[in-house]
Amino acid sequence: MTAAPDMTAALPPESARDTPTNPATQRRKLVEVKNLKLYFPIFGGLLRRQVGDVKAVDDVSFDIYEGETLGIVGESGCGKSTCGRAVLRLYELTEGSVVIDGQDIATLSPEKLRLKRPSMQMVFQDPQASLNPRMTVASIIGEPLDEHTNWPRTKKLERIYELMDAVGLNRDYANRYPHAFSGGQRQRIGIARALALNPRFIVCDEPIAALDVSIQAQVVNLLEELQDQFGLTYMFISHDLSMVRHIADRVAVMYLGKLVELAPVSALYANPLHPYTEALLSAVPEPDPFAETRKERVVLKGDVPSPSNPPKGCNFCTRCPKVMEICREVEPAFREYAPGHFAACHLLEETGTAALNGGMRPEHNQTRIQQGEDA
Ligand SMILES: Nc1ncnc2c1ncn2[C@@H]1O[C@H](COP(=O)(O)OP(=O)(O)OP(=O)(O)O)[C@@H](O)[C@H]1O
Ligand code: SF4
Ligand SMILES: [Mg+2]
Repeated sequence: MTAAPDMTAALPPESARDTPTNPATQRRKLVEVKNLKLYFPIFGGLLRRQVGDVKAVDDVSFDIYEGETLGIVGESGCGKSTCGRAVLRLYELTEGSVVIDGQDIATLSPEKLRLKRPSMQMVFQDPQASLNPRMTVASIIGEPLDEHTNWPRTKKLERIYELMDAVGLNRDYANRYPHAFSGGQRQRIGIARALALNPRFIVCDEPIAALDVSIQAQVVNLLEELQDQFGLTYMFISHDLSMVRHIADRVAVMYLGKLVELAPVSALYANPLHPYTEALLSAVPEPDPFAETRKERVVLKGDVPSPSNPPKGCNFCTRCPKVMEICREVEPAFREYAPGHFAACHLLEETGTAALNGGMRPEHNQTRIQQGEDA
């Protein structure tokens, strides 16, 4: 979206994003991300001058509705975590705005941002690394309370116990240290800490990736229960497309710093519009063994290009099995092809109506893509 000279062309018009037929839009937008860019400077040479940028997030726009879970998927290095951190302003934004509950956090002063922090929290991938090994569970969960409240000790302890109950941790363990817990329990501690100040919005960055498969479902179920109980809104970042299918209401697909597709979960999995989304989904095992054996896989050739030097035109053009001449020159606009279903691909501009009428072009239904293998 970014390389386009007209930035507004990349952003779906407000009217398109808010079609009355999209059930998700009946709800209030809690998070509105517009033209978000997060570039990391690259320094080089003897004088350590800036010689370029890693375009980790490159002109991304999306909304998250109150109470929903927006899944963010894409290959490693495509910018998911950076996007999640930028949305919470854990990084200073290069460009763009992030409005959370009516306030643009990109422009808030440090003090106002500090006051806003309780309403927006993050759950990290690696519970082991994100918990201080020298602090007890009670002090870890109570840390945000120390920072943001002046409650007396007894009130804090009461809240800590309440949070331990909410995430299924035994109160008797309050004085234990993180090393005495299993991976799943440690993630529960991380979730309790994120909940301490009654947030409305939580970015979950691969919250189950470091856990045993048997524990993953427990943590996902816990996140869902807490969402119902406290009316939470999630941005759920994951590699695991099956898990995202289970937990998300809508899914955004990222490739090389940009959104390539955004749709309600059922539409995305049943009728992916973008060749990259098709590629990702073809690697997901089918529960039906007959369907699984009938699957053919389309191969994505080559490596992901460097985000410091993305290709001209469509940034997927170096690997796309359906690449056309125009793709190497002109960046495709991110457009709505069905209610609430957005994608950025020149093919759709030609055959957009076919995509709306029950699926992609015939060859799309036949072709399968396997990640990371050569043809
Ligand atoms: N602090 C940083 N400084 C410089 N470059 C960074 C920094 N953090 C991330 N990057 C780069 O930005 C790009 C996006 O990284 P990011 O961690 O957001 O990807 P990701 O989609 O979360 O990947 P993964 O699935 O492996 O977690 C990568 O090229 C990465 O090397
Ligand atoms: S715009 Fe072209 S290169 Fe990009 S995804 Fe579509 S067909 Fe492939
Ligand atoms: Mg990441």
